[in-house]
Amino acid sequence: MDKQQKLFPKDFMWGASTASHQVEGGNINQWSEWELAHASELAKKAEKRFGHLQVWSEIKNEASKPENYVSGEGVDHYNRYHEDFDLVKQLNLNSFRFGIEWARLEPEEGKWDEKEVEHYRNYIAELRKKGIEPILNIWHWTLPTWFANKGGFKKRSNLVFFERFVKKIADEYTHDLKFIITLNEPNVYVSFGYLTGEWPPQEKNPLSALKTYYNLLVAHKRAYKILKRKKPDLQVGIATQLANIQAKRPHDLIDEAATKIMRYGWNWWFLKRLRRYQDFIGFNYYFSDYYKWFKRVNPTVPLNDKGWYMEPEGLYPLLLRAWAHFKKPIIVTESGVADSHDQYRQWWIQEQIIAMERAMSEGVDVIGYFYWSLLDNFEWSEGWWPKFGLIEVDREHDMKRTVRPSAKWFAKKIKELQ
Ligand code: BGC
Repeated sequence: MDKQQKLFPKDFMWGASTASHQVEGGNINQWSEWELAHASELAKKAEKRFGHLQVWSEIKNEASKPENYVSGEGVDHYNRYHEDFDLVKQLNLNSFRFGIEWARLEPEEGKWDEKEVEHYRNYIAELRKKGIEPILNIWHWTLPTWFANKGGFKKRSNLVFFERFVKKIADEYTHDLKFIITLNEPNVYVSFGYLTGEWPPQEKNPLSALKTYYNLLVAHKRAYKILKRKKPDLQVGIATQLANIQAKRPHDLIDEAATKIMRYGWNWWFLKRLRRYQDFIGFNYYFSDYYKWFKRVNPTVPLNDKGWYMEPEGLYPLLLRAWAHFKKPIIVTESGVADSHDQYRQWWIQEQIIAMERAMSEGVDVIGYFYWSLLDNFEWSEGWWPKFGLIEVDREHDMKRTVRPSAKWFAKKIKELQ
């Protein structure tokens, strides 16, 4: 065993992430309603939105069809989770992050669907049975329609409904859990839902954005208290989105100022307000952003299929800063690439392992790394064409699962590192 291998402890969590709406199939919530209402319009706009991407000629057909924008049967993970957890094992992953679909548990206000409650109980039990650590994520952007119709998280008085849902989760599931994530990427949700207006509820109103963001902060605090009251040793955190934000020209005062403002606003403001309400720091990492004045000016290569500039080593400065700010164990709750040809994924993961090793050698307590995603999944308003999975899913042929070469490599690497 060489020195590097000793950096990862035996109980380091090597995992993959999913979100209920992106994989389960058969979900009925505010998002699925929005998909049905907007699929044709999104199909018509495909070229305008994606025409500049390197993969355009390959995705043109799929992206120009309304079906691409409907989550529908998902990848049928709801019914195939046994088989999918076998694949998790096959990939030598020892942990798994998944979502609970609020609209399944509480399809009508105040009425619990006990069959669905049971479904997730069995789901968690199955992970435990297979020796996979379950990391439950409470909210990943989808809402029961009744909650969305009341104004969702924009209205402070609606938080009581979220609290009731969290209480249900605390009562039903926490006895079988060590880790729980309350919210996924409030910063991304608020930006797309309330600022740019690309996602439901398609508001473009900075005041609504601020209100919703602030309410999500309060929602987390309240959830934290409920969960800890139920199980004091439960490790509770969130999964925020952190970008490696850098000045294009570090010597330029305005680039530097823009960078500082963006870093604080996007990366740290939310987390800093929750200092006393997190047992670990969870974050998702996908890209670096370079600022020239207040404009994002990123290098043009290498880009992933979605056109995001890929700098996997950008994880390193974020780990150092998160550690410096909070001195708490860190979990990389998501990180991945949209890469239909599987040409970058292995490189991405390899560089991320090095980034973690470097940070750990400086004393940063990284305790887990979750690749996004286990399976090809429904990519919100982009639909089905982006391929993030360690495992490819052929939705045309009985949802056939095929392990990608990069995932086979990752599985071997995990064995070496343990
Ligand atoms: C989200 C996922 C999404 C992934 C790739 C993350 O921001 O949490 O739901 O699929 O990015 O875009």
